[in-house]
Formats: sequence, C-alpha cells, structure tokens
Amino acid sequence: MSFPTHRARRLRRSEALRGLVRETRLATAGLIYPMFVCPGSGVRQEVSSMPGIFQQSGDQIVEECREIEALGIPGIILFGLPESKDPRGTSSTSAQGVVQRAIEAIRKAKLKLIVVTDVCLCEYTDHGHCGVIENGDVANDATLPILAQQALSHARAGADVVAPSDMMDGRVAAIREMLDEHKFENIAILSYAAKYCSGFYGPFREAAQSAPQFGDRRSYQMDPANAREALKEVALDLEEGADMVMVKPALPYLDVIRRVRDSFHVPVAAYNVSGEYSMIKAAAQKDWLDERRVVLEILTGIQRAGADIILTYHAKDAARWLKP
Ligand code: PBG
Repeated sequence: MSFPTHRARRLRRSEALRGLVRETRLATAGLIYPMFVCPGSGVRQEVSSMPGIFQQSGDQIVEECREIEALGIPGIILFGLPESKDPRGTSSTSAQGVVQRAIEAIRKAKLKLIVVTDVCLCEYTDHGHCGVIENGDVANDATLPILAQQALSHARAGADVVAPSDMMDGRVAAIREMLDEHKFENIAILSYAAKYCSGFYGPFREAAQSAPQFGDRRSYQMDPANAREALKEVALDLEEGADMVMVKPALPYLDVIRRVRDSFHVPVAAYNVSGEYSMIKAAAQKDWLDERRVVLEILTGIQRAGADIILTYHAKDAARWLKP
C-alpha cells in the first residue's frame, strides 16, 4: 500500500490541517528566561555579544520580571555578578548578595514567577573556576559545603528552585541535605546533570564575568563525545535527590535530551545557551536568517527531542510570537 493510495501531502493542505496533526506544540508555559543581576540601582547594561540581554541591578530586574510575567513566561533563572570575588567565592553565600537581594525584591513585588537560581562558584571566585582550588586543582569535596550554603541562602531569600551548575560530584546530595536540615524540604532541585564542556558558553562568560583565569573546565564538565555517561550523571543526580534534570547546551546534544527523556521519568530541561543565542542574533542582524522562523524552529526541535522545559534567552520573543 503506497502511492497513489497514500499521499502524505493530504494532511499538509491547510494551516488548519497542519495544526490538527502537529505532534509538537511549542508553548510559553515551558520556557524559563535567564537574567544577570549586578550591584547598584538603575543599572541596565547590554551584553555586547548578546543583543537584547542585559546586566541589571535588582530594581531593573524587577521591572523586567513584570514584563516577563505579563508575557506568560512562568519563570526566570538568576545569575549573579557580585560586588567582590575571592578564591572561595564567599560572596555567593551572603544574605546581602546580589542574587539574594534580587530574589527578595521580586518577592516583595508580589510577582508569581518561579524563581530559579543558578548555584555555582564561577561567578564568585577570582580564579573563575566552579569550585575552590587545592593543589592547583578544582577540589570536589571542599566545594560542596559552599554550594550547599549558597543554595540555602537562595532558599532563605525566597527562591523556588535551586539549580546547581558546577558539576562537582555529590553536590545534589549536599544541597538536599542542607535544605532539609533547615526546613526547606519543599524547595526543588533542578540539576545541571549533563553539562558539557562547551565552546557555546563563550558569550555567557562575558555576561557573567566568569571566564576561568587559568586552565579550562574539562576536569569537571563532560566530554562532548559522551552520551552514555550523561545517563550515568542523570541517574546519580536523581539518586541524590534531584527533582528535575538538565542537558546543556541544547542544539549539539539533542540526542542526549532524547535519551534522557526516554530513560527517566522526571521533567527534563534543556539549556539553549548563550552561544546558540548569539549565533542566531548575529546572523539575523545581517539579514542572513529570518530570526522569528529559526528561533521557533529551534525551540520546537529542542522540545521534539524531549525537553519539557527550555531555558532560553529567546523566551520573551518566543512568548510574543506564540501569543494566539
Ligand atoms: C556556570 C554556568 C555557565 C552557564 C550557566 N552556568 C557557564 C560555564 O560553565 O562556563 C552557561 C550558560 C550559557 O552559556 O548561556 N555557572
């Protein structure tokens, strides 16, 4: 039974028919918008490699959060640019820290947005690594209590979800234990479980001022060539108490998203990272690509691969384009 009995084009004849049989329905309800908080007030500085994305002080963050909520985007993830850095990332755990105060301001503004926080040391250490340095190496176990303290300080400030992105072993368990000890058993953990050592983080490191000052992140972030290892990372994080898991970046790892989706029964997030955003922006500025078309195609592709949640700098544009 094939042609002429079967004609695939029958169901592509009109937008109504195409809509009826569409398998993937991209929705604003699954998007999370990343934001960069800096000290001060009235600050709103565009990141040169990420047009449309700003480093902003807490008051400006609150203003943009109102816009985000009005667009129907359910949540944001916050990254901090602290006032001071030191070898141990001390400022990351302070109740007066940039992220902590921004969360409080968002809460005070009575916004219903889900506030996710990135938990990591790279933005807070003077050497730019995601953990503390011992004997010239990023020390795993010595980093865990600092990450746990940082997560606790975010929970105290009013975060709904903490998202460790450091790739230290055992950090999910350390964070879960610390949160539970302090009666934050209802704060969820979204773990960056399969985070690859990627060139696509380039623009983010300008935005978050978090480039490593020596060496690279290959001893803790995953080798781009490995997919089975991602399943192991996810399994370990779930055992340790992660509620949701993330694959990052998104586009070069769609196969990993699919395998994680098929292997585990928890919400799967994908991070459409800074470099993926900047490429589209740069090409669109030159009129080489139709931005709206390719962004919706990319986000649909990430969802089709199996992501329930997409963290993306395109979230505001996508929400506008998806408005019925
Ligand atoms: C590390 C962190 C990074 C990103 C999110 N969390 C960068 C890195 O590992 O160097 C990258 C996000 C992006 O590129 O958009 N705390």
